[in-house]
Amino acid sequence: MSVEIKIVKALKKYGDNTVISNLDLEIKKGEFFTLLGPSGCGKTTLLRMIAGFNSIEGGDFYFNDKRINDMDPGVRNIGMVFQNYAIFPHLSVNDNVAFGLTNRKIEKKEIASRTDEFLKLMQIDEFKDRMPERLSGGQQQRVALARALVIKPDVLLMDEPLSNLDAKLRVEMRSVIKDIQHKVGITCVYVTHDQEEAMAISDRIAVMNKGVIQQIGTPKDLYQRPSNLFVATFIGYTNTINTKLKNKNNKFYIEFGDIDVEVANIANDVKEQDVIASIRPEEFYLDEDGLVKGKIISSVFLGLNTHYEVKLDGVENTIELVQESSIDNIIPNDSIVKLSIKKEKINIFSIDGLSNLVRD
Ligand SMILES: Nc1ncnc2c1ncn2[C@@H]1O[C@H](COP(=O)(O)OP(=O)(O)O)[C@@H](O)[C@H]1O
Ligand SMILES: [Mg+2]
Repeated sequence: MSVEIKIVKALKKYGDNTVISNLDLEIKKGEFFTLLGPSGCGKTTLLRMIAGFNSIEGGDFYFNDKRINDMDPGVRNIGMVFQNYAIFPHLSVNDNVAFGLTNRKIEKKEIASRTDEFLKLMQIDEFKDRMPERLSGGQQQRVALARALVIKPDVLLMDEPLSNLDAKLRVEMRSVIKDIQHKVGITCVYVTHDQEEAMAISDRIAVMNKGVIQQIGTPKDLYQRPSNLFVATFIGYTNTINTKLKNKNNKFYIEFGDIDVEVANIANDVKEQDVIASIRPEEFYLDEDGLVKGKIISSVFLGLNTHYEVKLDGVENTIELVQESSIDNIIPNDSIVKLSIKKEKINIFSIDGLSNLVRD
């Protein structure tokens, strides 16, 4: 059975230090939900409040209609997985997975069959008699997941579970976790500082900074329509260009020197003003008829794509341009290129970076 999680006006203080205030959040039943943000922004703190390991200084936490603020962690029926696995070194794989059940006074036969079920689901049944020290990091994390899930929790909480694994295994374990979550259908709250991991694994993501949720959305929402400059620069890479927003006959343009580049989806009542344009490297394209002129400063060939550093006319800082590598040569340094921009993809932020002036 999985639950919906609702958090209303959460407040967390460590002594006099307020790290989270007035935080609202709703996580749907069966959803894979991720808290994403830089180190120290309060992800672990919030997750531990949901788990019951942290005191709550204000606000209300609900699993479905049940307020859980004062409920013991032991009766919240949650499964947890941490970065450092936290499996017992002195117990075999089998006994690690069975641990949560032996604690719950369940019949032996039932324990054995449920343990088997989750050993198989996590594909670690062949190691069931091994001790953890003889397992790889990925296998240990599978044990930790099986142990968390075998108790049939209502919610699965994971705090940076892949951070200790090497890069290749990290990518592989993303799909393992996502698949299992889907099969079991459990509500999942996942914490990571790795934006690519969050994008790959989540149904929805809450981007946090300094204890404040900046935006909640699908990976696609966050990438394409970040609601502020922090989200735009934290999710993927983007070129930020200080410029002016101009209105000519109810069409909006940004200024690159003498050139005006049209931007789409700005509400009519938006005033002309200084802005920060956010244009991702793949949103520029080489175009004979392109209005934007630039000079290639340097290039890096990365197989599928080539990254160019380009100095645009009328723009102070250089920008990054990504093009699919062609069979022809890489464009030499110092070449003059003409570029266009996919105008519906441009985001325009107020000069303080706090709001996006582009609407869908
Ligand atoms: N037990 C604690 N006592 C005092 N301050 C803490 C404690 N745990 C975390 N903090 C502070 O709270 C803030 C959020 O920390 P944390 O939730 O661990 O961030 P994250 O998991 O996003 O890296 C940080 O400034 C951190 O120093
Ligand atoms: Mg943390």
